[in-house]
Amino acid sequence: MNLHIFDNESTLARAAARLIAARLRDEPRLVLGLPTGRTPIDVYAQLVAETAASRIDWSGVRSFNLDEFIGLPREHAASYRSFMWRHLFDHVNIRHEHAQFPDGMAADVEGECRRYDAAIRDAGGIDLQVLGIGGNGHVGFNEPAEELQAATHRVTLHADTRAANAGWFAGDVSQVPTEALSVGMASILMARQVLLLATGEEKAEAIAGAIEGGITTRLPASFLQLHSNATVMLDRAAASRLTRLEAAPAAPADRPAAP
Ligand code: PGA
Repeated sequence: MNLHIFDNESTLARAAARLIAARLRDEPRLVLGLPTGRTPIDVYAQLVAETAASRIDWSGVRSFNLDEFIGLPREHAASYRSFMWRHLFDHVNIRHEHAQFPDGMAADVEGECRRYDAAIRDAGGIDLQVLGIGGNGHVGFNEPAEELQAATHRVTLHADTRAANAGWFAGDVSQVPTEALSVGMASILMARQVLLLATGEEKAEAIAGAIEGGITTRLPASFLQLHSNATVMLDRAAASRLTRLEAAPAAPADRPAAP
């Protein structure tokens, strides 16, 4: 894994946005896999700025989001679709039909999961998968479990994941849906490049396990150790439990430091 540690969230966001923007400039038909959550908000803001500054054309870009709540109408402010349009898609010229999500309102959930995997396959797979990580080590909504799923599937959200999402529902955890659709480990691990982002002390333990621990379904992000082109960007707090990094030099303010 390519590990970069930054002084703070905003330097991390700038570096992540630059990496994504460079891929978009080089490959106008890039297929992105994108996350929602608190972590990517600044990254998307920086990416919008990069897009405006260097006139990046998104008209050929396709995007597949990692997950969506089940039972939340698409126009609900807390749906992941609403999040993506608010923070990114409304501000770039992506074509509406190129921004895809699993449909959490589909009557035929199994059919919807198959449709989503087929759409990713038909697009040629994911070129660049951007990921956050849950405090429990989940990626997408692939929660810690005895077994992980390869394909897009229906998930029962863990209590801590629902609590972590309460902020999108005015702090009321009872409003957070109990289920979601998530891409499986296959579309994440088959992406040609993966960019994992984590900030804050609450991610430090999951990050230490994911990077330095054994590979285990109890910490789904640990499977990224198997990926041949994975970049991890952390702020100091998220990196604080990495024991092998104790002697790593401080990252300059605006430049990633490879330990
Ligand atoms: P966060 O979520 O960015 O809101 O911390 C990350 C995740 O749960 O995957």
